[in-house]
Amino acid sequence: VKKIVVLTSGGDAPGMNAALRAVVRTASHYNIDCYGIREGFNGLINNDFTKMGPRSVKHIISEGGTILRSARSLQFKTPEGRKKAYENCLQHGIEGIVCIGGDGTFRGAKVFYEEYGIKVIGVPGTIDNDIFGTDNTIGYDTALNTAMDAIDKIRDTATSHNRVFFVEVMGRDAGFIALNSGLATGAIDILIPERKDSIEELFATFERAEKAGKSSSIVVVAEGERMGSIYDIAKATQNSFPQYDIRVAVLGHIQRGGSPSCADRVLASRLGYGAVVGLMEGKTNVMVGMQSNRMVYTAIEEAIKKHNEIDQDLLKISEILAI
Ligand code: F6P
Repeated sequence: VKKIVVLTSGGDAPGMNAALRAVVRTASHYNIDCYGIREGFNGLINNDFTKMGPRSVKHIISEGGTILRSARSLQFKTPEGRKKAYENCLQHGIEGIVCIGGDGTFRGAKVFYEEYGIKVIGVPGTIDNDIFGTDNTIGYDTALNTAMDAIDKIRDTATSHNRVFFVEVMGRDAGFIALNSGLATGAIDILIPERKDSIEELFATFERAEKAGKSSSIVVVAEGERMGSIYDIAKATQNSFPQYDIRVAVLGHIQRGGSPSCADRVLASRLGYGAVVGLMEGKTNVMVGMQSNRMVYTAIEEAIKKHNEIDQDLLKISEILAI
């Protein structure tokens, strides 16, 4: 390959800049022209191509967000939008596209490859960690630490006031952030979409906690939890335990920002490098990931269809250690 583009798409994640830097510098090292595309697939449609070189990505390894900006492109979901994008790629002589993002991004990349045959390679960047074919996605470790720090702070005030807090963390369809941040902060219960939780089980946990003499508690709730909204769960708890002083905290988008952790910078650097090398080796319609410290390429189809399993041991350990 002689000319490639790189874009960041979908929900941003800390470490996307580090991945972009790795793509641009690896391409430069191997004498491949590299263009940055602004605002995800929208930039392909709007002909927003910018030539990038090693100096365009200086000092961004430590920056949160994405200097290319991101979008969930609605236009790219239409055949007309993708046709426009293809024409622009053709005009610039583009042979490969590095797509940094999550499952929505990969779905777009896959359709584009199937329709027009331009090589695509995915780099998993999402705080949710819900992509198959890599142990961790870029941004997950940072988001986890952000959530942990926030819950630690909530713990301070919960203890001072003998309160029960329900804390919502991100994860539309996945409980990885909830499970790990909950375990790391000593939550008495962790509600995640992968498990069928029930209000009765939650109440039983509260009763055990009370018997054990706990005077304040934290329940970590994944955004995609299926029992109902966090406010409904808090209300139901208040009705059954009128003696509790209950508060709800929704952490929200703070989990998406901030300087990436060391683990995310290293992961992003490896995967950005791996994406360019993959394209050079003729790989397409695959995602680059790290599994057991080895770089692996997984068919995009598999990456979006399959799911990493929630670690049952972690669930069990969190239950044993919580009270
Ligand atoms: O996919 C990442 C994520 O942060 C999810 O955890 C969350 O549900 C979603 O994005 C929020 O999306 P938006 O930023 O569009 O509100």
